[in-house]
Amino acid sequence: MSTFRVRPAQAQDCPDILRLIKELAAYGNAPDAVKLTIMDLLKDGFGEHPLYYCLIAEVPDESQRTGTLTVGFAMYYFTYDPWIGKLLYLEDFYVMEPFRGLGIGSETLRKLSQIAITTGCSCMNFLAVIWNKTSIEYYTRRGAQDLSSQEGWHLFRFNRDKLLKMANEK
Ligand code: ACO
Repeated sequence: MSTFRVRPAQAQDCPDILRLIKELAAYGNAPDAVKLTIMDLLKDGFGEHPLYYCLIAEVPDESQRTGTLTVGFAMYYFTYDPWIGKLLYLEDFYVMEPFRGLGIGSETLRKLSQIAITTGCSCMNFLAVIWNKTSIEYYTRRGAQDLSSQEGWHLFRFNRDKLLKMANEK
């Protein structure tokens, strides 16, 4: 299939984005982990100060009201590194199983690279979980560096309980 299209998401894409976020969570064996709602996605991504951006991939589908089916998405945002400045952070990347291997992922990465370059980012960072060998190989084949191996990073988190505790410390 060569008729897919990758484009920036609009507010009306939020239900499809949430559907795909849930599919990706299920792929990661965490089907019930998604607490986000369509309203959260709308508020956080399509207000005056968006906290994230999305590219979505769609294919023609006459059975859909819109004439297209949304089959993939990439969620990203901009962050800042005190050594190298602005960088693009790829948070989530997913293509529905029947549509994989058609070049949708590659086209999405091409578009993300263009966005990174035109916005003055020096790199694109992302996490890949250790068991997801397929995606690690996918990124490695495209020249991504594994900073955990090379530089020994660990991902840390203060959860909400810890934040509340620290916030209330005198
Ligand atoms: N399924 C998967 N891969 C296939 C298939 C198939 N049925 N058939 C062929 N392939 C090969 C292709 O030949 C291609 O090989 P290449 O890397 O040598 O070019 C590669 O797998 C797929 O390339 P694309 O078609 O460009 O990418 P795709 O549209 O399949 O999307 C993606 C890639 C997003 C990683 C997809 O496989 C996916 O959704 N995987 C499951 C979720 C996942 O792991 N997401 C990444 C998590 S990490 C993060 O979010 C930052």
